Amino acid sequence: MMTINQFIKPKSTKRNSKGNLELGGCDCLELAGKYGTPLYVMCKETLVDMAQSFKKAFSDYPKFQPTYASKALMTKKIAEILYSEGFGFDAVSGGEIYTLHKAGVDMARVTFNGNNKTQDEIKLALEVGIGHFSIDNFSEIEDLASALQGTDKIQHVQLRITPGIECHTHEYIQTGHLDSKFGFDLSQTDSAVEEILKHKNLELKGLHAHIGSQIFETKVFEDEIEVLIKELARLNEKFNLKLDEINIGGGLGITYTKEDTPPSVYEIAEIIKNAIDKNCKKYSIEKPKLFIEPGRSIVGTAGATLYRAGSSKQVPNGKKYVALDGGMADNPRPSMYGAQYSAEVANNKENKTTEQITLSGRYCESGDILIKNIELPKIEKGDVVCIYNTGAYNYSMASNYNRILKPAMVLVNQGQSAMIVSRQTYEQLIENDL
Ligand code: LLP
Repeated sequence: MMTINQFIKPKSTKRNSKGNLELGGCDCLELAGKYGTPLYVMCKETLVDMAQSFKKAFSDYPKFQPTYASKALMTKKIAEILYSEGFGFDAVSGGEIYTLHKAGVDMARVTFNGNNKTQDEIKLALEVGIGHFSIDNFSEIEDLASALQGTDKIQHVQLRITPGIECHTHEYIQTGHLDSKFGFDLSQTDSAVEEILKHKNLELKGLHAHIGSQIFETKVFEDEIEVLIKELARLNEKFNLKLDEINIGGGLGITYTKEDTPPSVYEIAEIIKNAIDKNCKKYSIEKPKLFIEPGRSIVGTAGATLYRAGSSKQVPNGKKYVALDGGMADNPRPSMYGAQYSAEVANNKENKTTEQITLSGRYCESGDILIKNIELPKIEKGDVVCIYNTGAYNYSMASNYNRILKPAMVLVNQGQSAMIVSRQTYEQLIENDL
């Protein structure tokens, strides 16, 4: 079954009677006019559909908790929507925890991840009643135990392990290989468990791993599950425990360009469920509660960014550059990871001749290129260009480089648009300058 993670565009994308691009029933030229550009646009239908597909794909698994990885995109509205779809959350900072709390999320559904949680963040997480800590290292055990000292609170924890699996994705977003800054090496888990068991305020519930992001291979998930279940069974036996949770992290890939061929959420769910089944039999344990932390695959395709085209430059005997009014600060992925995107001109360009161009940004760096060598209808100054699949790791990684304001974000659905993040202002830009 095809799902949205295998499509480039949001579900609601079409050309309207004027020939203009439409997202969520809203004309993109009107959106650009009303809210300004660059503009992050989130299609609610796509977001909800993807969240529901995840739940459906795992609906026959007895104990399942999807925990959306907030780092991909977190705003109060995104939290509200996914929470109402039954999702929990993976949070990695005080800021993400605070946002979820303010959005009215039941914090028992949140797991606090990260390799260097500060004392203040630990305190905040405990105050709001976070469901789980995923313990990443020995010093965190001490910090958490001392924050709980003198209270009668029992904090559920999972132990993050490094399963020793290399997946073929960009080096910077691989995390499960042995030489990683995240989690306990398998040779350290016994000592970590011994350490946790010394503290009566900590209750170890299970194991956590995350092997990387934008993954298309399925075998790596099977391997990861075998490591987690084997280790869970071994620890239960050795320490006489009843660990019954595994958290397999996120990582499912999406389609940025036609060359990307990720498995659908349904295919990957079958593989995960079968691997759990097989390994639970092999290592003689009951099926554990399953946590999964998708980020990109939930929000990526639901998002698109609208830019207005400005200047252009024809290099004599070389490339033609068309500059957009955003770039590496609202989407750092092309310059950081060499990430590729697809785009379309939102204006009606029917029967217009096409040309090969490079879409550049407006930031003061030669590396600020959004898309190299793309064939598009001839763009005029003032046209609106839509770059697809920007829902994940764009706004969440945005900066104020060159002191350019962060864009607004709108949610579109069935012809309605609503601003869910307002555009930054110059006043806000200097707010913290003393
Ligand atoms: N769980 C953990 C513990 C993670 O570290 C991550 C992502 C996820 C879940 C969610 O992974 P996803 O389903 O989104 O692949 N900035 C990079 C991606 C970094 C991913 C970091 N960890 C990018 O733009 O490609």
